Formats: sequence, C-alpha cells, structure tokens
Amino acid sequence: MTSAHDRAMVERLRATAEEAMRRAYAPYSGFRVGAALLGRDGGVFPGCNVENAGYSSTICAERTAVTSAVVRGVRELELLVLVTESDEPTPPCGVCRQVLVEFAPDLPVISFAGGREARWNLAELLPHPFTPASLGRV
Ligand code: THU
Repeated sequence: MTSAHDRAMVERLRATAEEAMRRAYAPYSGFRVGAALLGRDGGVFPGCNVENAGYSSTICAERTAVTSAVVRGVRELELLVLVTESDEPTPPCGVCRQVLVEFAPDLPVISFAGGREARWNLAELLPHPFTPASLGRV
C-alpha cells in the first residue's frame, strides 16, 4: 500500500498544488497559493486562493481544498501539500489551521517554495486547538 509520505505521492500532490496555484485568483495580493489534500480514500483534492474585492471575503487555498474534499464525502485527511511563489515555504494561516484541525488534528503539512520544502504537523502549528471535543460533541 502506498504511504502518504512516499516521495511519489508527495510529488503527485505537489504537481496538483502547482496546477491549482496557476488557477489562483489573486489580483489584489499577487500571492498565488496552491494546495492539494490527500484523503484517506486515496483521493486528491486541489485548492487555490480565491480573492475578492471585499478583501475579507477572500478564501485561502487550504480551505478551498478542505471544502472540495468534504463535498465529495471525504473527511479523513492524510496529507496537505502547499505551493507558493514566495522565497521560503509558508505554513497555513491561522484560520486555515482552525478549519483543518476540525478534520485532521495531526495532519502532516509539506510546503514548497523557493526550491525548498518545509514540513510541519498541524498539532505543532496549532497547539491547544479548539475542537469538536471542546464543545462536548465527542
Ligand atoms: N493565502 C492562502 O491561500 N493560504 C495561506 O495559508 C496564506 C494566505 C492567501 C490568502 C490571500 O489570497 C493571499 O494568500 C495573501 O494573503
């Protein structure tokens, strides 16, 4: 069985994220972001940032990827890969960390930029998260 961390899988997700990044709608910031989420079912869900003239209506690449997975019935997420055009790999923003933790508290995150890659785990990026358990729902 293919592990989510296999290089071939990471490269596949990276290619998906790069393709998504090229579709980003970022006329205001000029900062294009592509994301690819791997579902437990093996599905790959792309995302890109979609900005808006009402700046606060902007949605990040990570959240478009999560919603794409959920709308297809996939809530178990194994790996997130990000691609940007910045000099250094960037982690998900705070809002996206909160959205991701709902479904995958230990999600591995790999970010590519500037010819480098960085790896984190969501538990490290968002310590002491507010989760469904915080509401007493599980
Ligand atoms: N952005 C993302 O898509 N993901 C992140 O994790 C950081 C920020 C987008 C939002 C906005 O369109 C642009 O990058 C600049 O903040």
